[in-house]
Amino acid sequence: MSSATDPHRPRFHFTAPQHWLNDPNGLCHHGGRYHLHYQHNPAAAQWGVIHWGHASSADLVHWQDEPIALAPSHEYDRQGCWSGCIVEVDGQPTLHYTGFSDAGQVQCAATSSDLVHWHKRETGRIVERPAGVSAHDFRDPYVFRHSERWYMVVGASLDHERGQCLLYRSADGVEWEERGALYTAPDLRQGRMWECPNFFPLGDKWVLVVSLWLFLGVHVFVGRFENERFVPEWDGPLDVDAGAFAHLAFRGPDGRMLQWGWINEQREQALIDADGWAGAMTVPRELLLDQRGRLAQRPVAELARLRGTELMPQAVTDAPGTRRRFAGRHLDIEANYAMCGPAKVGLDLLVSADGRERTRVVFWPEARRLSIERAHSSLEPRVRRQDLHAHLELDPGEPLQLRVLLDASVLEVYANERLCLTTRVYPTLPDSVGAVAFSEAEGLGADELSLRVWEMGSMFPAR
Ligand code: FRU
Repeated sequence: MSSATDPHRPRFHFTAPQHWLNDPNGLCHHGGRYHLHYQHNPAAAQWGVIHWGHASSADLVHWQDEPIALAPSHEYDRQGCWSGCIVEVDGQPTLHYTGFSDAGQVQCAATSSDLVHWHKRETGRIVERPAGVSAHDFRDPYVFRHSERWYMVVGASLDHERGQCLLYRSADGVEWEERGALYTAPDLRQGRMWECPNFFPLGDKWVLVVSLWLFLGVHVFVGRFENERFVPEWDGPLDVDAGAFAHLAFRGPDGRMLQWGWINEQREQALIDADGWAGAMTVPRELLLDQRGRLAQRPVAELARLRGTELMPQAVTDAPGTRRRFAGRHLDIEANYAMCGPAKVGLDLLVSADGRERTRVVFWPEARRLSIERAHSSLEPRVRRQDLHAHLELDPGEPLQLRVLLDASVLEVYANERLCLTTRVYPTLPDSVGAVAFSEAEGLGADELSLRVWEMGSMFPAR
């Protein structure tokens, strides 16, 4: 079903044409187009025997579906072609992924000339698993070039207790040697296992992004890469509460680091089956370092091309305590609040005419807490409705800058380009389209709430 007939189907967040989608995989730019691959079960709207789905785009915002790129075919990947990446080795697109079978997880490779036909290497085990690492905690290769060599990081676990990132090195991108652990979780709270490690230079730093298993969130470390070890200098959450997970980044042709994450469903399988699709991607995000050496993220500028009617034709300023109303289910919202007191500010979205359904995005200045409140987001009892919270520290005098992407059941809230709260909401009433931007501050002067809102178009010209 399309977004025209399925009120929960997003329009400008990538979904599979049908059935199941999880992690982004094999991001690359080839033949003048961006390529997004993804974990896909083509047989059902639930996780199962995973293939690689594929879509491509000339401009990062309009996408076309491509044939399935990778399917289980060998003993070593009989039960699934799990997450991985694509790089060009000597000009040839080369795919690294995790093969899954009864024997456990192995790292595999395949090559292609057209990104349509892939030739798997027969060996099906291109790197050795170190002694002490379980065959069930060894996955998601990420390959990069550095100092005239190829490197690969693989997600793992130390003693089933701590996330760990293993490092391999290769001169030719074919034969690999073990280089030990790049980095191990310093803290037991940082996941029992690390999935989907990404490791790349940004500015004069190196960035390590890991997804904390079991679904604890996505964490980022910024630091140095010295003697084949990672030395962290700063760390923080990238996506809180695992609203989005399994992020994958790659360097685009213009040098930007571009990243997607997977946004899981938050509803029971019977509801998913009735709609026939599951899972969405975040919009592509650009990763940057801020002046203090922290990781910053924002939706790519190209996303603005999907903006249609501007619902607020220009920045508007509200008197204190008043509300600005608009409506829509597919919206791009820029709301900037000058913070000058303890009063809370935010947005109510997907509000029904009778007020029974509503989802609130709210910042509490004294608690330094940004929340998505979902308790009243849906009258359907079979969906998750707990709140999400993030700690957000504003500098003195720093305004709160929210960029809110609402796309039917997908909600992404970027705050000051610093962090993102991502989740799903499933209102049931046809009139749950109301929206209100509010600031409860007293005595605000001009320019204290500026708001711009656009109705968003579709990323799928052909669907
Ligand atoms: C992350 C993940 C990866 C694995 C893939 C399997 O969501 O568990 O570690 O490769 O999904 O679909």
